[in-house]
Amino acid sequence: MTHRHLQIVVCAAGPAADVTQLITNATQQSWTTAVTATPSALDFIDAEAIERLTGRPVRSTYRSPDRTHRSLPVADALVIAPATYNSLNKIALGIADNYALTTVAELIGRQVPTVVVPFVNAALAARAPFQRAVADLRDERVQVFLGTDHGWEPHPAGSGSSRQRAFPWAAALEAAIQMASGGPASTTNQG
Ligand SMILES: Cc1cc2nc3c(=O)[nH]c(=O)nc-3n(C[C@H](O)[C@H](O)[C@H](O)COP(=O)(O)O)c2cc1C
Repeated sequence: MTHRHLQIVVCAAGPAADVTQLITNATQQSWTTAVTATPSALDFIDAEAIERLTGRPVRSTYRSPDRTHRSLPVADALVIAPATYNSLNKIALGIADNYALTTVAELIGRQVPTVVVPFVNAALAARAPFQRAVADLRDERVQVFLGTDHGWEPHPAGSGSSRQRAFPWAAALEAAIQMASGGPASTTNQG
């Protein structure tokens, strides 16, 4: 089997604490992994636990903690999860004001198979900028994992903690693997 690498970008929402589930699942399927975090997401993750699982430092700035790996990782697939309202909107607009979003901008530009799993409440998801962002990303062949097709919907405001347990880590990985294998990206605008 050829070696495949999954780049993971975490944003600052509750499910970021559970990104180890994605790492473990990907590792079991013979993928290597690395995690990049937005600056705000650092407060939501256990970086040491992630580093033990991935064997790589968690990146959140342009300078690696070990000061040896400064270039953009080669990736066969990219999963952005959880994607906040803030970061999803910025990614769609092409804003790259932190290291994580700069890597995202470049990887999407290189047409690396990309899956974005938002974690937003219904009030945020109802905003026109968010709906435009989802549609624009899908137009770029980014798979935005949201809507009835994906069985993953925005949650009622205030229910984030219980919703966190249902975060679709396994389905997101399967979608990324399918895209990396040449499968179709979901381009539906169903939000
Ligand atoms: C405890 C806590 C939970 C949050 N949960 C969410 C969330 O579920 N979804 C979301 O879009 N933003 C959430 N936010 C707000 C984001 O953290 C905030 O918009 C932040 O600026 C996002 O940064 P990032 O997009 O660079 O990761 C939460 C903030 C806090 C403090």
